[in-house]
Amino acid sequence: MTVRLVDPSVAEFRPEGHAMPSFFVWTLGCQMNQSDSEEMAGQLLSAGCARASAMEVADLIVINTCAVREHAEAKVIGRQGQLAELKRARPGLRVVLAGCGVRESERAGLRKRFPAVDLFLRPDEEPELALRLGLVSAQAPIGLRTAATAATTVVSGRPVSAADHLAPNRATALAEGRVARSSTLSAWLPIVYGCDKTCTYCIVPFARGPERSRPFDDIVAEARVIATAGYQELTLLGQNVNSYGHDLPAEKRFGHIDTERSSGRKLDLHGRPDLAELLRSIDGIHGADGRPAIPRLRFITSHPWDLSDRLIESMAECPSVCEHLHLPIQSGDDEILQRMGRQYTVEHYRERLSRIREAVPGIAVSTDVIVGFCGESDAQFEATLRILEEVRFDTVFAAAYSPRPGTPALRMADDVSPAVKRRRLNELLARQESIGLELNRDWLGREAEVLVERITPPRRRSVEEDGGPEDPALRVPSLYGSAGEGSVALAGRTRHNKLVHLAGDPSLVGRPVTVRVEYAGPFALRGRVVAPTA
Ligand code: SAM
Ligand code: SF4
Ligand code: F3S
Repeated sequence: MTVRLVDPSVAEFRPEGHAMPSFFVWTLGCQMNQSDSEEMAGQLLSAGCARASAMEVADLIVINTCAVREHAEAKVIGRQGQLAELKRARPGLRVVLAGCGVRESERAGLRKRFPAVDLFLRPDEEPELALRLGLVSAQAPIGLRTAATAATTVVSGRPVSAADHLAPNRATALAEGRVARSSTLSAWLPIVYGCDKTCTYCIVPFARGPERSRPFDDIVAEARVIATAGYQELTLLGQNVNSYGHDLPAEKRFGHIDTERSSGRKLDLHGRPDLAELLRSIDGIHGADGRPAIPRLRFITSHPWDLSDRLIESMAECPSVCEHLHLPIQSGDDEILQRMGRQYTVEHYRERLSRIREAVPGIAVSTDVIVGFCGESDAQFEATLRILEEVRFDTVFAAAYSPRPGTPALRMADDVSPAVKRRRLNELLARQESIGLELNRDWLGREAEVLVERITPPRRRSVEEDGGPEDPALRVPSLYGSAGEGSVALAGRTRHNKLVHLAGDPSLVGRPVTVRVEYAGPFALRGRVVAPTA
């Protein structure tokens, strides 16, 4: 039986007997969006559609939007003219807009802002994509046919729907090929959807709804599938992975878990699974050699508020958990943190960090910072510069504050001028560049395990790709020395998440190699392979 849930706006999209459309997915935003796009592409592929090589030749364009800053939304609004032109040239073309740009509270205005779009899907509606387009036939995998049979429900006043129907069944979805992973090396694994925090500047809770943790056993089952498929790296995903499990029912088998939240809203965490337990269980999936079947385990993003001692202990004790933590600080000033609704002080952040550095010596730490938040004075900005000097983050992702619709910060005056925001951002980035360089220089002469991810093209396409401006010394081929006939420029990451350029045989892609670091730039290292496989 074909499930009839076709959206009226696209009802004529695939008249019976026509070939299945080709599709192109354009993904903006964070890892969660990348993971969601893999699910949407998987749905379309398992419905029988094929990938198009470019937007210009696709029958269906899916845009997975980000709304975290105005600039991210402007990028998509700026493409409406081009999309309208494509549609004029090819009237059969359909455009779907999904992701954080589709918020229920603003649905009425979406058509005006995005006139070239035919169908809008909130992040939690994305599992309905193939169904709503009328692309699901009776022959499709069962999961695809049942993905959206339950109605939207309201949780904490916010609508939540089909994501929760795919979520518990992702292991089945993987088995049925409904998740088209873009890498054969690294896999994303969402563990908690939405966000319950109330950071006053942030649109994410409005776009992605309240926190919904996936059942513990489903996540571990999915990790097993990923391990069996030979993935070398697994990243657990959530806006706030540290609060995983608080909304799941208490169970006897988790009776030993009794984490007390050290700050913020108190929650009864007794007997509920947490991230520490997940890390231990996934780390405990062993291969034939008795070692963790997935050698590298990561998680993102952590919130300082929920970083428990149990989590720190599990990071220290699980061999597969990488020596890297992304822990957004946002500001180095308590008053600004309070205005941001971050629920911790700089001192709390310091304490958590020293605890983790004690437990995992040499751990690399990255962070997010917002400059020019409402009312931020020069002195408060300087406090942020000081915390950068004090903590010495390996990487800082910094952005100027961008007011977002519907967020509580809109009630505060956005009183730092664009010029001052820009100046502060540049100053911070320059300061961080020298810190990053000094930290990277500590690696000179040392050996590190690099998981080779890709052959690097002769010229980098984007500065953002590697997290920083190009350092020409990293890419001068003669500097690769006697890497051997047939060797190409490769790039990969260490367990500390350092980007490393190296030269070697293309067959090294997908393998861990031991590299001696010979050059350090502020954003990346260059190394020489000393052993083919670590
Ligand atoms: N959940 C994570 C956390 O707690 O930090 C991060 C999620 S958010 C998608 C990623 C980063 O975007 C944030 O850490 C923050 O630095 C930045 N961000 C969010 N809202 C912003 C805004 N309105 N203006 C500028 N940057 C923003
Ligand atoms: Fe946004 Fe704060 Fe939630 Fe992160 S924790 S997604 S910054 S509200
Ligand atoms: Fe953007 Fe949504 Fe991620 S707003 S950063 S795509 S959670």
